Amino acid sequence: MSDNAYQNTRGNKDRSITNPDGRSTSDAIEDGGTMRPGHADGPFLIGENMTGGYGSGADILHNCTVAVDQGEIAVIVGPNGAGKSTAMKAVFGMLNLREGSVWIGGKDITDLTPQARVAQGMAFVPQTSNIFTSMTVEENLEMGAFLRRDDIRATIEQVYELFPILKDKRRQAAGELSGGQRQQVAVGRALMTQPQLLMLDEPTAGVSPIVMDELFDRIIEVARTGISILMVEQNARQALEIADKGYVLVQGRNGFTGTGQDLLADPEVRRSFLGG
Ligand SMILES: Nc1ncnc2c1ncn2[C@@H]1O[C@H](COP(=O)(O)OP(=O)(O)O)[C@@H](O)[C@H]1O
Ligand SMILES: [Mg+2]
Repeated sequence: MSDNAYQNTRGNKDRSITNPDGRSTSDAIEDGGTMRPGHADGPFLIGENMTGGYGSGADILHNCTVAVDQGEIAVIVGPNGAGKSTAMKAVFGMLNLREGSVWIGGKDITDLTPQARVAQGMAFVPQTSNIFTSMTVEENLEMGAFLRRDDIRATIEQVYELFPILKDKRRQAAGELSGGQRQQVAVGRALMTQPQLLMLDEPTAGVSPIVMDELFDRIIEVARTGISILMVEQNARQALEIADKGYVLVQGRNGFTGTGQDLLADPEVRRSFLGG
């Protein structure tokens, strides 16, 4: 990841500094999304009052809101089945919302397909099946750049700088790697589109505490380059430690919302969701 001027300003709320080009005043956006008044000063990404479920089934999300600012880390935690993955899919356009909307950089992208959202700066690493196991590490990275027409070599090198082990293993089938290394491939693949928002659904699932710490350090490093991170985590306590914003989802609803530190200090959140 290249250095930038905002290296040590994570959590900076002054969006006139951190996102000077994120919106325009025109009504129509040539490559998707609609400018509408009302969100010009809002967070960089917001899935707002999202209500919906799968197909014609019952609603899973009920008036659920998640948001993240540029260069910030937002973490979604909550019990199994609370709708965390569903909320991520809703933000990425894999769910038909009955109510609510999704905005990025002041643009309403509620009606865009997932692929069109990638073009708007989103990247999503799903909870499962997030790499091509029979392809090499480097082929996985190349696949990640499918939307790009320019030279991707520099981005591949940036991914290798972030995750040096992947450079050593670049000719190996991704399926031969350890769990932690596969997650690095998945994150690296997502970075290949040069996103402004990186969405990660349980990036540390099934890895050791040491590997988890290492992955969190790399995620912080990505955020420091100005990329927003929206992440679901089972390791709630550790994830909230690095979160600018935290959301506790309960049965598809916002249970508790605050800074990571607020939530870690909240007695009810501790008792109910953090094991005391
Ligand atoms: N593809 C799907 N089709 C129908 N229901 C689903 C699907 N995926 C998840 N669900 C249901 O949605 C609810 C929330 O699931 P999920 O978002 O995966 O929870 P979490 O990620 O918090 O563990 C659960 O009741 C689950 O059974
Ligand atoms: Mg899930």
